Amino acid sequence: MADTLLEVRNLKKYFPIRAGVLKRTVGHVKAVNDVSFDLKPGETLGIVGESGCGKSTTGRMIMRVLDPTEGSIVFDGEDITKLSGSKLRAIRRKFQMVFQDPYASLNPRMSIEDIIGEPLIVNNLANRKQATERVAQLLETVGLRADDRARYPHEFSGGQRQRIGIARALAVNPKLIVADEAVSALDVSIQSQILNLMVNLRKEFNLSYIFISHNLAVVRHISDRVGVMYLGNLVELAPKGEFYSNPLHPYSVSLLSAALEPTRKQKRQRIILKGDVPSPANPPKGCPFHTRCPRVMDECRIHRPVMKDVGNGHLVACHLHA
Ligand SMILES: Nc1ncnc2c1ncn2[C@@H]1O[C@H](COP(=O)(O)OP(=O)(O)OP(=O)(O)O)[C@@H](O)[C@H]1O
Ligand SMILES: [Mg+2]
Repeated sequence: MADTLLEVRNLKKYFPIRAGVLKRTVGHVKAVNDVSFDLKPGETLGIVGESGCGKSTTGRMIMRVLDPTEGSIVFDGEDITKLSGSKLRAIRRKFQMVFQDPYASLNPRMSIEDIIGEPLIVNNLANRKQATERVAQLLETVGLRADDRARYPHEFSGGQRQRIGIARALAVNPKLIVADEAVSALDVSIQSQILNLMVNLRKEFNLSYIFISHNLAVVRHISDRVGVMYLGNLVELAPKGEFYSNPLHPYSVSLLSAALEPTRKQKRQRIILKGDVPSPANPPKGCPFHTRCPRVMDECRIHRPVMKDVGNGHLVACHLHA
């Protein structure tokens, strides 16, 4: 087995902005503007950042439901950046997505058996009878009852529906699951049940996760490493312990100061960032964060910092740490 499951290099996604009756392209929303990272088999990478920073767009490019504008994605040793047609369908089985709102992604007119069994049948992985057995097994794996398979999505609670979404993702034996705000809509007590389920499944099925969330506490619970995005850029990437005890990018520091209770030893001050996130259609020159950075220097307005390994696998794109 390769020691890297996923290699993302310089990934970009620019959405055209069209205007006027001729719908001419007058600019681009730079939703993702240079994201690179690796993921090991069995690893969980958390991706955090404020709304609109490009987390979902990154996830959707990796899932190949959105075509990257630039960059490359190598999955399990195969360059999947430009795959299409039957080759793409064949590899897609190996990566699955779990969404924030399972209700919206579960067809209300289909029974749970059909919802979970469909990918098995479509991919010729099972006949009807085998699919029925597998669905029963999967339901028990995710903490539901085999008998639930005859029921419909509206008969379940939010947390149960998320279990169904997870069972459906697991049906095709994927290697990677991208979970986009998978627990954000759930009550806090249910959130931890689903997170614990995902942790257990990861061990049982040797899964890797990309866990997208704006919630730093949730990401801390589940991740091995954490990546921070700001305005389409990955600005920091570090092992979990490193990240939460020693965040280096001023943006990460401000996010953590606002989100988590500091430990007594750390006595962090709450940092309130000035101003709004700039428009991704017109990002600032130099460091994307310089317009709001409490520690901005002249250089930050001119040169964009690149990701640098400062030791212990801790990468940061910041002139303070160049
Ligand atoms: N299909 C699209 N067409 C045009 N712009 C888009 C499209 N999808 C996303 N965007 C823009 O790209 C940027 C990044 O969006 P994205 O959904 O990736 O952010 P996000 O980090 O997932 O945010 P959230 O936390 O709110 O889910 C936003 O400015 C968004 O408006
Ligand atoms: Mg999103």
